[in-house]
Amino acid sequence: MKKIVICGGNSLSGEVEIHGAKNSLLPILAAVVLASGECKISNCPPLSDVLTMLDLLRDIGCKIEYADQTVRIDTRSIHNYSMNDGLMHKLRSSIFILGPLLARMGKAELGYPGGCDIGIRPIDLHLKGLRDLGVTVTETEGHVLCSCSRLQGSEVYLDYPSVGATENVMMAASLAQGATVICNAAKEPEIVDLQNFINKMGGRISGAGTGRIVIHGVERLEGCEYSAMPDRIVTGTFMIASALTKGEIFIKNAQRECVNVLAGKLRDGGCEILDEDKGIVVRCHDRFKASNIIETMPYPGFPTDLQSPMMTLQTVAKGTCILIENVFENRFRLTGELKKMGADITVKDRMAVIRGVEKLKGATVNTHDLRGGAALVLAGLAADGITVVKDDGLIDRGYFELEKQLKALGGEIVVLEE
Ligand code: UD1
Repeated sequence: MKKIVICGGNSLSGEVEIHGAKNSLLPILAAVVLASGECKISNCPPLSDVLTMLDLLRDIGCKIEYADQTVRIDTRSIHNYSMNDGLMHKLRSSIFILGPLLARMGKAELGYPGGCDIGIRPIDLHLKGLRDLGVTVTETEGHVLCSCSRLQGSEVYLDYPSVGATENVMMAASLAQGATVICNAAKEPEIVDLQNFINKMGGRISGAGTGRIVIHGVERLEGCEYSAMPDRIVTGTFMIASALTKGEIFIKNAQRECVNVLAGKLRDGGCEILDEDKGIVVRCHDRFKASNIIETMPYPGFPTDLQSPMMTLQTVAKGTCILIENVFENRFRLTGELKKMGADITVKDRMAVIRGVEKLKGATVNTHDLRGGAALVLAGLAADGITVVKDDGLIDRGYFELEKQLKALGGEIVVLEE
C-alpha cells in the first residue's frame, strides 16, 4: 500500500512530457503475437499494466528484453495457447491476446479477464466478432476455449463501438483469409495507432478512426520497429491539473486533436489553451466556471477515462455541473472520497450533480480505480491542508511517476510505502 501525502494550495507551473499511451501499448503488445520475428516497441514506459502484459507474453513463450522504455519481443518461440489465469485476472486487456493467438495458433484457452472495478465489463462483443471470423467458442464456468482453422474474413457488426472488441477483431482479421469489414467500429485514436503498427508489420488495414474499418488479411506479418503515440488521458489529466490549481503548464508531446473535447470544456470554464509547436500550454488565472453538462461517450465524445479528474475540477468550480457517465457504471465510487474532502455531490444512477464549493479540505481518502486515483491526487493539490491518498498500486497502472511529475511542476507531494 502506498500513501501519497499532498500539501495542497500550490499553483502548478512548468513543463511536463507525456509518455507513451497505455491504451495504445496494450493492444500493440498483444498484436506483436501476429509477427513472425522480432518487434521493437519504443515510448513504452514500465506502467504496471504494461509489465503484466509482458508477463503474459513471456508466459506463452515470447522472449523479451526491456530497457529504457524500449521493449524487444521475439515471438518465434511462442508455444503455449493457454493463458495464465492469475495474469488474466490482473488485467482486462489480457483479452487482446485472444485474437492474435487464434490467428497464429488456431486455438486459445483463457479465464475471464479482470482489471479495474469500474463496471460489469463483459467480453461478449469480442467473442461475437471472433465467431464471425469462424472461431468456435466454448464457454465453461470461468473459462473460454476457442479454436479455428484459418480465420475467414467477414462482415462484423458491433452492437456497441467497443474499443477492445474493435481491436481484437482487427488483429485477428489481419491474418485471416479474405477481407473483413468492421461496422460500428470504435473510433479512438489508439485504434489508429494499432492500425499503423499492424500496417508497419505488413498488414493491410484502412479506415481506423472511422466507424468502418476494412482489413485485408495477409499470409504473414513481419517484425518491425514502432513508437507508441503519447497518452491523451495523461495529457488531459495535466490539462485539468493546470485548471484546478490556477497554473500554467506546457504539456510537451500533447496531441492537440486528441483532446479537443476537453480543451473546449476548459476554454468554456475560463482557461486559455495555446497550441505550440511541440505541445500545448494550459493556463488558468481565475476560479474555473462550472461546465453545465458533461456526458461521457465513445470517441470523439468526452472520454470516460477523464470523467473522474473532471469531476474533481467541478467540485471547486463556480456553479453547478451535471455529469453523466454512459460508459462504465461504477465510475462514481470516487464521489464518496471527494465528499470526505468537503465536495457537494449528489448521485442518482449514472448522473452526478456537483455544486462547486470554494475549497476542498485535506482528508485521508482511498483509491478504487486507476483514474479515480489520479483524480484524488489532483483533489489533494487543490485542497486546504494535508491529503493522504491510499493507493494499492492502481495509479501506477496507467501513469508513470505521476507524483514525481506533479512535484516537478511545484506540487508538494511525498510518497510513503507501507
Ligand atoms: C478501453 C480502454 C479504457 C476506456 C474504454 C472506453 C484500453 C486498454 N482500455 O477499455 O481505458 O475506459 O476503452 O473508452 O484501451 N462492453 C460490452 N461487451 C464487450 C466489450 C465491452 O458490453 O464485449 C461494454 C463495457 O462493459 C463498457 C463499454 O462496452 O460498458 C465500453 O467498453 P470498451 O469500449 O470495450 O472498453 P475497453 O476496451 O474495455
